[in-house]
Amino acid sequence: MAAQADAAEGSRLVVVTNREPYLHRATKAGHTVLRRTPGGVVTALDPVLRLRGGTWIAWGSGERDWEEAPSGQLGIPPRDPEYVLQRIRLSPEEVEGYYVEYANRGLWPLCHLAVERVRFYRHAWTAYRRVNRRFVEAILNGSRPEDTVWSHDYHLALVPGLLRDRRPTQRIAHFWHIPWPPATLLRLCPNRLDILTGLLGADVLGFQTEDDCRRFTDCVRQFLDIPADDATGIVQYQGREVRVESFPISIDTSLVEAAAEAPSAARLARAIRRRLERNHRILGVAVDRLDYSKGILPRLEALDLFFQRHPHRRDQVMLLQVVAPSRGSVPDYARLKGEVERAAAQVNRRWGVEGGWQPVVTLLQPLDLRRLAALYRAADFFVVSSLVDGMNLVAKEFVAAQVDGRGVLLLSELAGAMAELDQAFPINPLDPEGFADTLEMAIRVPPDERRARIATMRAHLQLHTVQEWAENVLAAVE
Ligand code: F6P
Repeated sequence: MAAQADAAEGSRLVVVTNREPYLHRATKAGHTVLRRTPGGVVTALDPVLRLRGGTWIAWGSGERDWEEAPSGQLGIPPRDPEYVLQRIRLSPEEVEGYYVEYANRGLWPLCHLAVERVRFYRHAWTAYRRVNRRFVEAILNGSRPEDTVWSHDYHLALVPGLLRDRRPTQRIAHFWHIPWPPATLLRLCPNRLDILTGLLGADVLGFQTEDDCRRFTDCVRQFLDIPADDATGIVQYQGREVRVESFPISIDTSLVEAAAEAPSAARLARAIRRRLERNHRILGVAVDRLDYSKGILPRLEALDLFFQRHPHRRDQVMLLQVVAPSRGSVPDYARLKGEVERAAAQVNRRWGVEGGWQPVVTLLQPLDLRRLAALYRAADFFVVSSLVDGMNLVAKEFVAAQVDGRGVLLLSELAGAMAELDQAFPINPLDPEGFADTLEMAIRVPPDERRARIATMRAHLQLHTVQEWAENVLAAVE
């Protein structure tokens, strides 16, 4: 507990997220295990908290969480704790209203421009407010006014404002991981004023891109009628200055590189390549959460058009689509699995050979970094065709894993990552013909150009890592 003892002298860090960094779950054999959850925020902030000490406050959603730690408090790592994980216990009704209904049927589709999917129910807003208040109570109990509080994302938009009301001098940062919508869409949110003023409780409000920042300040001017300067990103609110700034999140670049260079990944990639080359085949890979915003269906439509427009590619080009199940309790997500399976089957019926060659292979399960790294290395091209995306860390992982410099990246113009990965081939997911032609162009890129494009983007990711992202946000607020 040395780190915690040192930090106790000064300001400690309190990280607040919806998803917890470690959860207790049951193995197939019935044993309980403590697992680190995947994702950029945990990769970035778990090491920071281990070093500085402090507290991580999150919803205790693991199936065995409350049996293992009935008080909700747990030292991380349990044997020799470096920080405290404070879990919040939510009732099934709270999860339904706050997480399923308000966050994932209201704010998520709104921010991802999926207007027809958006529903804002009154009971969901009540639950969202109540749960945000519960998070704030946990912060007040688990921190001191001199600590730095860093809250995250669209689940917790009210936390900065509610906390500011109780502790006017607390240093607060909030990072919004998903796109910020234009004012014309935010108007559809009946609670927009509470959401905006909630976020303005922070000292530093981080977004993924400059465009997100500008859309936010525009909403502040339109709906709150208060000064917000686009040049400096400063919003004057209740006698304080709120700094609105872009901090593009990234990956643990050396971790991904090491996974790609590991002998097991190299062996698996070589084995895949040997089989492909024997049959003169070109491998495309795509890796997504099962989410409508990722544009999996338009991607399959574009692939269908690609075979129509470039028939000589039949029996040559294949797409391995890896999909990790996600948010199954939200109706639109539950339906998507069947829709993806049907769309893939249709492409295979039209362009495949019965009982033999299939152009689309769908793998409906999450893969660990070791296997993903091998796939990234084996791929000739990688497709990210999100309809809208805050950043898209998978695109960055693919680039970092290109230790052979073989692959080309086709990247949606509407993904935040496009602002940095400028050597990718831009695609518009809703222009299937353009998408299909860009794919043909990308496949033809000669090896030297592929290597040069990848080298430029890898160099960028070696400088701009998720660790640097966390340092930048903390430096801005502290
Ligand atoms: O930023 C989007 C996000 O909410 C992440 O915080 C999270 O890791 C990811 O989507 C997965 O979503 P969920 O936590 O709903 O499973």
